[in-house]
Amino acid sequence: MKQHEVLEKNVGLLALFMVLAVSIGGLVQIVPLFFQSEVNEPVEGMKPYTALQLEGRDIYIKEGCVGCHSQMIRPFRAETERYGHYSVAGESVWDHPFLWGSKRTGPDLARVGGRYSDDWHRAHLYNPRNVVPESKMPAYPWLVENTLDGKHTAAKMQALRTLGVPYSDEDIAGARDAVKGKSEMDALVAYLQVLGTSIKNKR
Ligand code: HEC
Repeated sequence: MKQHEVLEKNVGLLALFMVLAVSIGGLVQIVPLFFQSEVNEPVEGMKPYTALQLEGRDIYIKEGCVGCHSQMIRPFRAETERYGHYSVAGESVWDHPFLWGSKRTGPDLARVGGRYSDDWHRAHLYNPRNVVPESKMPAYPWLVENTLDGKHTAAKMQALRTLGVPYSDEDIAGARDAVKGKSEMDALVAYLQVLGTSIKNKR
């Protein structure tokens, strides 16, 4: 193959063809996803996070929970037996950024909503050893003491609305009052309790 030899001996040309090949592959794989309703539309009946849940999500990000917990149940039997229905794209369309994660020091949390009581979560986050003696998870006692003032909640919701999250004017207007005076613990637990609940948790 004379032509191929030319390609292999000419780095510039080789690089050009590599970029071309990868771009075509990317186009074929990625572009159709923008037009598939099952990956860009919310699952039926899903509601956007309430003001308090949204603040809880930000605390989840701030405290680095994503470094130890994924939110992505893969479609394998070992996963669905343990965690429930596998994750679908429509559940994440309003998550900016999504928190699928890639590290599982602790269990996946994609469907932890409703699995434990609020009190269990409070005791667990305050000090995981209180409820799971062998736990390696860090304690987060300050969540109880830190109170939210809700100063930026409305602005966050407004920003999310520009990205397509269907918040109403009333949602945004009431955001501050819905959050003000609540503890970080209240917000984080509210967030954990809604995770994965838009799809029925078949376990
Ligand atoms: C250093 C790693 C680590 C970090 C950081 C971490 N966790 Fe954990 N988490 C674990 C481990 C390990 C377990 C399993 C033992 C247990 O239940 O405490 C766990 C368990 C859990 C569970 C129970 C899940 C279930 O299905 O039983 C929840 C809920 C949870 N973590 C929430 C959080 C939240 C919220 C944060 C952030 C504030 C967080 N974790 C931070 C390691 C971590």
